[in-house]
Amino acid sequence: MPTLDLINLRKQFGSVTNPVVAVNDLNINVADGEFLCILGPSGCGKSTALRMVAGFEEPSGGDVQIDQQSIINMPPNKRPTAMVFQKYTLWPHMKVYDNIAFGLKLRHLPKNQIDQEVQASLELVGLGRYGDRYPAQLSGGEQQRVAIARALVLKPKILLLDEPFSNLDALLRVRLREELRQIQRNLKITAVFVTHDQEEALSLADRIAVMSKGELQQLDKPATIYARPKTLFVADFIGAMNMLDGEVNGGVVKVGNQRLPSPAECVAAPAKIAIRPEDVIVTQTGEGAWHGRITQVSDLGHYRKVFVQSPDLGMLKLYLPKSIEINDGEMITFKPTRFLIFQGPLPPFEVKL
Ligand SMILES: Nc1ncnc2c1ncn2[C@@H]1O[C@H](COP(=O)(O)OP(=O)(O)OP(=O)(O)O)[C@@H](O)[C@H]1O
Ligand SMILES: [Mg+2]
Repeated sequence: MPTLDLINLRKQFGSVTNPVVAVNDLNINVADGEFLCILGPSGCGKSTALRMVAGFEEPSGGDVQIDQQSIINMPPNKRPTAMVFQKYTLWPHMKVYDNIAFGLKLRHLPKNQIDQEVQASLELVGLGRYGDRYPAQLSGGEQQRVAIARALVLKPKILLLDEPFSNLDALLRVRLREELRQIQRNLKITAVFVTHDQEEALSLADRIAVMSKGELQQLDKPATIYARPKTLFVADFIGAMNMLDGEVNGGVVKVGNQRLPSPAECVAAPAKIAIRPEDVIVTQTGEGAWHGRITQVSDLGHYRKVFVQSPDLGMLKLYLPKSIEINDGEMITFKPTRFLIFQGPLPPFEVKL
């Protein structure tokens, strides 16, 4: 039952006088068999967190536990983890077979067992006949498949992946991540996958840990992260969002020239109003609606992406159904069907109209 717990995990680089806190008090629990993505912008501490789990980086504080047992005093090669890196890390002078067999040889397994396990792991990643090739004779995608086979052959309790596909072209990236997810499901292996690509995280993860500046912002299922972002950072970072300035006063929030309902719990103070592009309808009447001029329309198959310049809200992005006739340069009136009210550091209030 491999579970992974990061407990108050902290990493500080730099000097005492000039510290760089890369990971600050991080708490993440990964369930048995779960596929968890750590998502955040460049420099937010994702790799540092993962490297502390793998043992390549020593924590400044906190603990890492697998099955409730601390592993932070174990050297990397003794940990029940295996890591796949972003850049190709195969040994160029060794054939694929030897790259994969290396870790098993260190474990002094009998030759026929090594042969079997190397072959099985190559077949798992769809490269059954590639054992005799050198890494230079493989494409980038094939090399990353070998790197995954090399990690899996060790039968780790926890598989760690740090942006393993980000050097590959878009199509291959999508294919490989789906293959990886299928393999992970079949093996029921617990996995932590680091990415800065939100689409990748949203499509792959059982749960996503969103990080910013070394800190955990939210740990939830993809659908929850999208529908109920807990912080302004998450609201802004995940998916498209219109962020408007509002002012709460006595059960209403004034946004531009309109007053929208707000829950009684909101305090009379400025607020940020977050509206998803799809949570807007075009109306005929002006009541309770904003207006603006369409500055750009792009056809995206089953819906249209529309930019609207509104005199009192600024530029908004809307996703509108194709059934609505709209053209560049036209004026439209529109209103929200759902929005979030952020005040201070508290989770937002949701309003549905
Ligand atoms: N060895 C180091 N010495 C000093 N600072 C470091 C070291 N490693 C990382 N950092 C700093 O810690 C912070 C987090 O780095 P980290 O590599 O974990 O970010 P990341 O989220 O993986 O970013 P990316 O998406 O670009 O890979 C950064 O500010 C980085 O400069
Ligand atoms: Mg990184």
